[in-house]
Amino acid sequence: MKWTRKDVLGIRDLSREEIDLILDTALPMREIMRRDIKKVPTLRGKAMATVFYENSTRTRTSFEIAGKYMSADTVNLAVSTSSVQKGESLRDTILTIEAMGFDLMVMRHAMAGTPHYVARNTTMHVINAGDGYDEHPTQALLDMFTIREHRGTLEGLKVAIVGDILHSRVARSNIYGLSRYGCDIRIAGPSTLIPPEAERLGVKVCYDLDEALEGAEVVNVLRIQLERQQAGLFPSLDEYSSLFGVNKQRLRGAAKDVLILHPGPMNRGVEISSELADSAQAVINEQVGHGVAVRMALLYLLLGGGGVE
Ligand code: CP
Repeated sequence: MKWTRKDVLGIRDLSREEIDLILDTALPMREIMRRDIKKVPTLRGKAMATVFYENSTRTRTSFEIAGKYMSADTVNLAVSTSSVQKGESLRDTILTIEAMGFDLMVMRHAMAGTPHYVARNTTMHVINAGDGYDEHPTQALLDMFTIREHRGTLEGLKVAIVGDILHSRVARSNIYGLSRYGCDIRIAGPSTLIPPEAERLGVKVCYDLDEALEGAEVVNVLRIQLERQQAGLFPSLDEYSSLFGVNKQRLRGAAKDVLILHPGPMNRGVEISSELADSAQAVINEQVGHGVAVRMALLYLLLGGGGVE
C-alpha cells in the first residue's frame, strides 16, 4: 500500500495495513542504525522541529536522532526558554515555526487533542508525541515492533498492561493497536486507576494482578505517575508495589518466556523490580532503540514521498 496521511495523530485512526506498513518500513531503518556510518541522504533538504510542552528524554531525543540519521535538518524548540514563557499563544507559536519553512513538527502537549488542532491549522506534517491522557502513537508502534520481533507475530497474543491505565496515553495507544491484531488484552491496576470506559475498549479488566498475568505472553508495565500520589488514588507506594508491582515471583502464572516491556522512565522497586527490569526477559532498552527505527520510518513515510510497494 501507499502512505497517504498528512499526519500521525493516533493509533485509533490507523488501519492494520497502515500499522504493518510502518513496522515493515522500520526494518530497513534499523539496519541503517546498525551501520558504522549511520547516515542516509533520504531527507536531505527537509526540516523538522520538535516542540515539547512536556518533559521527555526518549521520545524527543529519538525523533531528533532519527531525523539526523536521515539527513533532515532538526531543531528543538525548548519551550521552557521560548517566547511561550512570555505568553505567546500556541497558534502564534505554530505559525512562527511554519513561517521558517519547517516541513514537519513533532509535538507533545499536556492537553489532549492539541496536536490535532495544530494539524488542522498548519500545512506542516504533524506527529503526536503524546497528548494528555489521550494517545502516544509512536510509543505503541515501537512496542508493537518490539513484540513482533520477539514473538514473530502480533496476532492473537495474550498481553497484560499493568499500572496507571487511567492516566496512560501509552495504554490507550497500545490497546487500539493490539486490538487490530485480535490480541487478548487484559488491563490491571487499582480500581481508582482504571478508566470507567475501560470495558468499552474491548479489554478484560482485572483488579487482581495474578488474573491479568495468567498465561500472559507479553506484559507491558506502566510507570506509576508519582505526581498523582497527592490525589489519593492509592494509599502508598509500598501498598501499590505489593499489590501491583511486577517481579519474577508474580510472573509464575505467565508464559515461561514472557516478554517484559516498560515505556520508561521506570520507578524501580515500585511498578517493576530492579531484578526483573535488568533480566533477559525485559526488552526495555531494546524498545528505546526500536523507537528510533520506528520514528525514522514515520519520517520517511511522511516526508520521503511514499511507502514500500
Ligand atoms: N516513553 C516516553 O514517552 O518517554 P519520555 O517521556 O522520556 O519521552
